[in-house]
Amino acid sequence: MQSITAVGDLRSLVESWRLADRTIAFVPTMGALHAGHQELVRVAKERADRVVVSVYVNPLQFGDGEDFDTYPRNVAEDAKALAGVGADVLWTPTEADMYPEGPEGAERITPGPIGDLWEGAERPGHFAGVLTVVKRLVDAVTPDYLVMGQKDAQQLWLVTTMLETQAPSLDVVAVPTVRDDDGVALSSRNAYLSADQRQVAQTIPRALDAAGTAGSPASAVETAKRVLQSEPLISLDYVALVDEDSFEELPPGSLARSGRMLIAVRVGSTRLIDNARLTFGQ
Ligand code: PAJ
Repeated sequence: MQSITAVGDLRSLVESWRLADRTIAFVPTMGALHAGHQELVRVAKERADRVVVSVYVNPLQFGDGEDFDTYPRNVAEDAKALAGVGADVLWTPTEADMYPEGPEGAERITPGPIGDLWEGAERPGHFAGVLTVVKRLVDAVTPDYLVMGQKDAQQLWLVTTMLETQAPSLDVVAVPTVRDDDGVALSSRNAYLSADQRQVAQTIPRALDAAGTAGSPASAVETAKRVLQSEPLISLDYVALVDEDSFEELPPGSLARSGRMLIAVRVGSTRLIDNARLTFGQ
């Protein structure tokens, strides 16, 4: 695996691959790589001849008081995690590469109304930051496939929707959430949890499982809330059930046969999100 920083070097390499008729898959990340990211790289390698993984902690998607400064950064560890899973290039762009005009001056891609809901309501400006960086990363890599995780379902939906118009020939590949043995979705932010908090975090997949057996949209939301609120060390940000295609909330009386349940909580000062596809009345 090759490590590249300068965007010009990346572009030259991509050009040489194109001349040799190679297909390219791209996995954007913020580093602190875990088995979830590794799975994305494996899937990418199944799809394409060459795989580029970027590691860039994007200042634009962090709000005031969020963990931009403390977000775990360790490129040497990330390179180790990528060895043997199929990455051809680890690309670590600099801030000047991503935002030559400076992050403050960067023109942002604003998501539509869905970008103001759920994660967008809790984290104003977050998705504009995500869409802006993903567009710039994709413009540099010019991949055939963009591989992303369902763990961040709203991000996946917004990026897919943006690229339908901005890069229609690009194929977005969604990878199911990778979980630890205790059911907790792998996340770089799990590193912030104490052993006790980690136990508490198991309530989240339990709530999703319980909601999955509830039988209707209304009882699914009630059930998930009940399970989460039974754990005093969890502070609930939101539980929502959305239509998978439009990402709009399903009303409680909805007769929909399926939906995606979104959960966001705080355990101590750590914010955790998770989601699952639920089916009803089958
Ligand atoms: P990051 O949080 O590093 O996640 C990178 C990719 O890994 C995302 O597509 C995310 O959905 C996926 N991922 C994270 N945990 C996962 C898990 N347990 N199972 C499967 N996939 C998982 O998401 C971002 O970075 C950034 O917002 C980014 C898209 C890179 C833009 O800055």
